[in-house]
Amino acid sequence: MAGLSFDLTGKVAIITGSGSGIGRAIALGVSQAGANVVVTELPGKTDAAIETADLVRKEGKEAISVELDVREINSVNLMVEKVIESFGRVDILVNNAGIIIRKKAIEILEKDWDCVMDVNLKGLFFTTQSVAREMIKKGSGKIINISSINGVIGSDERASYTASKAGVINLTRTLAAEWAEYGINVNAIGPTYLLTSLTKSLFEDDDFKEKYFERQSIQRIGRPEDIIGAVIYLASSASDLVTGHTLMVDGGWTSV
Ligand SMILES: NC(=O)c1ccc[n+]([C@@H]2O[C@H](COP(=O)([O-])OP(=O)(O)OC[C@H]3O[C@@H](n4cnc5c(N)ncnc54)[C@H](O)[C@@H]3O)[C@@H](O)[C@H]2O)c1
Repeated sequence: MAGLSFDLTGKVAIITGSGSGIGRAIALGVSQAGANVVVTELPGKTDAAIETADLVRKEGKEAISVELDVREINSVNLMVEKVIESFGRVDILVNNAGIIIRKKAIEILEKDWDCVMDVNLKGLFFTTQSVAREMIKKGSGKIINISSINGVIGSDERASYTASKAGVINLTRTLAAEWAEYGINVNAIGPTYLLTSLTKSLFEDDDFKEKYFERQSIQRIGRPEDIIGAVIYLASSASDLVTGHTLMVDGGWTSV
């Protein structure tokens, strides 16, 4: 079919929180599809970021690692400056950085709530705003926000997390509507529970595993690599008419 392409050759992709887990898998996945990659990590985790960048270079693509704390607007703006200095452009932003604090709703402290919101929602928004300024200048861009099944279903001990991830989904719709005129697509992905450091302890719990396989139609544990196809689709020209959408990668969890 003419014009249909999943190729990301020559594109520059920023993946936040890509020193580990899902972020690292996405960084490698987009580089295999042709993109050069900006790996970002918290100041204390630069070794992990350097490791991901090295893995990307082994795929034959350019990579830089940049410190980023999405809670600090200065840090966000500095990161974007470094990207423009190094590559002169940014085509793709994957807002992957995220945290969870699991507590019964009745026990959540103000600082717990703020901590989760500052990273998952406020940090995501201001990172997006800063990157979008560059995308608006060149009249194109693809923004992909990593939400969760917990953005569309409630879940025990996850009040702040579910609220933040639901917020990401509706923020995605609003930014998609506002920025369509600049050629920017804004979409989200809603993964099921995937085996990473964030969820390792959950998968060690037999009760959790039983519930997982009861709820999820596809009877296997998701891996970070399961997200890559969705990211490449939403980052490529194959999805040019898709915006404001949340693509669930959840083994059918939220369909029944
Ligand atoms: N693992 C899952 O089952 C699952 C399911 C659905 C959604 N998600 C989402 O996927 C994303 C990645 O999760 P993961 O499981 O790979 O966890 P992870 O802890 O391995 O990765 C999160 C990354 O975000 C970074 N980060 C944390 N705070 C930051 C900050 N203030 N500024 C910049 N970076 C920061 C961390 O250093 C880390 O590299 C998160 O948004 C998470 O909510 C995960």
